[in-house]
Amino acid sequence: MTIVKTIEEVRAQVKAWRAEGLTVGLVPTMGYLHEGHQSLIARSVAENDRTVVSDFVNPIQFGPSEDLATYPRDIDRDAALCEQTGADLIFHPEAEEMYAPDFCTYVDMDHLTKGLCGKTRPTHFRGVCTVVSKLFHIVQPDRAYFGQKDAQQLAVIRRMVRDLNMPLDIVGCPIIREADGLAKSSRNTYLSAAERQAALCLSRGLNKGRAAVEAGETDAAKVKAMITAEIEAEPLSRIDYVEIVDWNNLEPVDSTAGSILAAVAVYIGKTRLIDNFIIER
Ligand code: PAF
Repeated sequence: MTIVKTIEEVRAQVKAWRAEGLTVGLVPTMGYLHEGHQSLIARSVAENDRTVVSDFVNPIQFGPSEDLATYPRDIDRDAALCEQTGADLIFHPEAEEMYAPDFCTYVDMDHLTKGLCGKTRPTHFRGVCTVVSKLFHIVQPDRAYFGQKDAQQLAVIRRMVRDLNMPLDIVGCPIIREADGLAKSSRNTYLSAAERQAALCLSRGLNKGRAAVEAGETDAAKVKAMITAEIEAEPLSRIDYVEIVDWNNLEPVDSTAGSILAAVAVYIGKTRLIDNFIIER
């Protein structure tokens, strides 16, 4: 496995693979990899001849008061995990390699990016769409892999690929959880022991909501109230949002009878965590 830092090196390697007729999978990440990322890499390795992992903390998807400076980074640990999982190349650029000082071209999206996380992170998805488009242009993969934990991101990227006719498949992969239910996240490392315990209110609330829907509850307001009550019962929690939306267009729904995404964003102390469940019908 090789680690490269320039776009030119990625292009040269992918060109050589293409000349051999090999297929290429891309796993875009911001590094500090955990078992969630590992499951994406493993899926790409299983479905493609070669796998590229991008490892880049993308500055333009962070708001001014967010955690860009403190976002955890450990390229040596990431490299070991990628190698062990069968990845072939890590693209680990500096910010200057991705963004020229006079960079001024962005990929933006209406509608899907305005609700859920977009409400409190108004420039986040513009940053995500821009960097992911750049990575797609640089690597030109056959398939790219994204986790369902960032469900809005997955929906946004699928829509971008459809709307802009990008020639690749987007593969969504299930949420990977700790044994006690907490969704794996690089940001879990910010949690103190007490906060780590408190963070279980997200999956507990969502489990209650899912069980109610599966038992036949179709009133979205009631399901939302159940999830909210469970999270609010935890003193260290502060809810950013609890929403139930149509999984196809991310618009709020009154009924849970169709394909739905139930999504939450909750501060545990200073750490903002997200989690969700999707029911597709
Ligand atoms: O999900 C992430 O880690 C990031 O948003 C992504 C897709 C790698 C873009 O920076």
